[in-house]
Amino acid sequence: MACTDNPNNNITTYSEADLINKKVDSLIKIMTLKEKIGQMNQYNGFWDVTGPVPDEGDAEKKYEHLKNGLVGSMLSVRGTKAVRAVQKIAVEESRLGIPLIIGFDVIHGYKTLSPIPLAEAASWDLEAIEKSAQVAAAEASAVGINWTFAPMVDISRDPRWGRVMEGAGEDPFLGSKIAVARVKGFQGDDLSAVNTIAACAKHFAAYGFSEAGKEYNTVDIGSSTLHNVALPPFKAAVDAGVKTLMNAFNEYDGVPSTGNEYLLRDILKDEWNFKGFVISDWASIKELVVWGYAKDKKDAAKMAVLAGSDMDMESHIYISELEQLVKDGIIEESIIDDAVSRILTVKFELGLFDDPYRYCDETREKEVVNSQKHMDAVLDMAKKSIVLLKNENDLLPLKKEGQNIALIGALANEKNSPLGSWRIASKDNTAISVLEGMQNYKGNNLVYKKGADVSVGDTQFVNELTINTTDKSEFKDAINAAKKADVVVMVLGEHGFQSGEARSRTDINLPGVQQDLLEEVYKVNKNIVLVLNNGRPLSINWADNHIPAILETWQLGTQAGHAVAQVLYGDYNPSGKLPMTFPRNVGQIPIYYNHKNTGRPVSDTNNPNLVFWSHYSDVENTPLYPFGHGLSYTSFKYENLVLEKTVFGMDENIHVSVDVSNTGKVTGKEVVQLYIRDLVASTTRPVKELKGFELIELQTGETKTVKFVLNKASLGFYNNQGRFIIESGEFEIFIGGSSYTTLNSRFELK
Ligand code: BGC
Repeated sequence: MACTDNPNNNITTYSEADLINKKVDSLIKIMTLKEKIGQMNQYNGFWDVTGPVPDEGDAEKKYEHLKNGLVGSMLSVRGTKAVRAVQKIAVEESRLGIPLIIGFDVIHGYKTLSPIPLAEAASWDLEAIEKSAQVAAAEASAVGINWTFAPMVDISRDPRWGRVMEGAGEDPFLGSKIAVARVKGFQGDDLSAVNTIAACAKHFAAYGFSEAGKEYNTVDIGSSTLHNVALPPFKAAVDAGVKTLMNAFNEYDGVPSTGNEYLLRDILKDEWNFKGFVISDWASIKELVVWGYAKDKKDAAKMAVLAGSDMDMESHIYISELEQLVKDGIIEESIIDDAVSRILTVKFELGLFDDPYRYCDETREKEVVNSQKHMDAVLDMAKKSIVLLKNENDLLPLKKEGQNIALIGALANEKNSPLGSWRIASKDNTAISVLEGMQNYKGNNLVYKKGADVSVGDTQFVNELTINTTDKSEFKDAINAAKKADVVVMVLGEHGFQSGEARSRTDINLPGVQQDLLEEVYKVNKNIVLVLNNGRPLSINWADNHIPAILETWQLGTQAGHAVAQVLYGDYNPSGKLPMTFPRNVGQIPIYYNHKNTGRPVSDTNNPNLVFWSHYSDVENTPLYPFGHGLSYTSFKYENLVLEKTVFGMDENIHVSVDVSNTGKVTGKEVVQLYIRDLVASTTRPVKELKGFELIELQTGETKTVKFVLNKASLGFYNNQGRFIIESGEFEIFIGGSSYTTLNSRFELK
């Protein structure tokens, strides 16, 4: 195999990184231009490489290219057998035998699925999130995959956008912490370990700001939002050592991300000193032509490579155009060398040159995939992701005995939907349903009635057209069951395939006839626990006004039903907090907690009935549930916000503490949240910004003092030139159990 030769005898004097650099340099020296460009080429693997060569003409071409060393990576090839087969072609049939890096969308697990990323973010539990990514990496690496296209770190304020399910919500601070946890979880401390894989922070940049929440739409945000909101999680991922980034389908300031030199070279590679490589998004190089930014394929290749996109995912343009562009002197070969050396470095770091089949161990595949250990881990994560939105008269937890319980809703009996939309490798219908979870509690009399289907037809492509908007034929049975029940548990919401890529919606009410079902059941029994399934915030105003208990359970993955049942019955006390604001209705979107004050805010001191204030005339300004909101089966009291001084120097650390007590009847966990407001600055600042949080557990009657330390980095911001600055002046500080905080104080920075 190529590249095992070491040109240097003084090996002991080099660091691991130096050694890899040397190996990369010497390999590049013996590569032809064509072979170098081959490393920048990624193909989707859509044929059965263990069987006959495919009949699609395109696949034939891919096979030829693999043999000739013209493919650097493949995506979506999975299973040790299939990966071994493609790797074998690259390593044993091509001239230099350079191994492939095998990418896959391991978004929230491979086969054993943890909750969708938005749900995991609701745990605010960084340790658990890191562990969940570790589980995903362990399974993926056991089936030949060594690179995941995750985490998605796009901040979004728009629940109409289907991909909010894939990110960490609306806040750059929380989003950055979670980005780091996920990168650490996937990559571990040692990328060459056999159970870690390279991560990919995506989509660079600002994809979450697609206009009107419409998928693949244009983005139009200013420099302040780009630098202060969209970029921080990417910067955090880069600082945490993420090996790759994926560019985005959208444009920024009129320049598509794939060809955006400002984003990819100036910010990412120069300013942030990112040493890994950038992969295009699927066919996004080709789409530069469709945007009207490049005139043809050649032009697109030139723009993308000059901008800093190192690898072409499925445009087939680098492989067809770059060679001539270099030969014509339009692209300098050093640009190609830089891209290739970035790609080869990651391959060396993964240990692929030592053993290209190291991720193809059939025994490990059998042991690791769907192991009990992984099932336990995703169950733990699922419980931590649930958010109790409302719980009047302590309707929850349910009594374990002597109750007649009616369980209603098609989603209650769903084994597919809880897997979410990004579950390419998992087997259909392998989630534990809520019905199955509740059946474990045998002390009650449980009756299940569907009530109504969420969708009709093929669920794989659920969109608004396949939603059941007419069939109410099974309402009657459900209503009868509800009449006889002490408590009704209704599992309603979106099917797992209603969110995700290309699943934007303009109506975020309960889909189809589910709202009618809820209202009909309510007429006969008001003791309803609404269990929401969804991949995005929904507008559930009516439910909030009428239904006494509401539990947000998202799509919780393989162990969903067990997690939901354990929370319903109080075997697990919920502690999740919303990572995204819930609007009262779709017209309020975008609605987010860290908004600006405006020149005419509605406040307590002016009369909201007056006209000329920033408001709507048909709905109040507040959201239905604010960012950070989430209840527990116990209650918490916040007191004694202590700021050690009121005036601080620029370089001083600011110590803040608060006492939090458990004033209820059971042990519980609470996410203590700290926000600041910079009262006067050279550009306007948000009314609140999360700058710290801590997840604590308190026994009944216990009090803990939670301490936070703020520093310069917590108080500064990016100016409109993209420079991070810290300005003196007055700051307000807020602490509480949601962004609707309870305590506040002020200090001055001098
Ligand atoms: C998505 C990416 C994904 C890629 C490969 C694209 O459509 O935007 O997030 O990683 O496909 O599956």
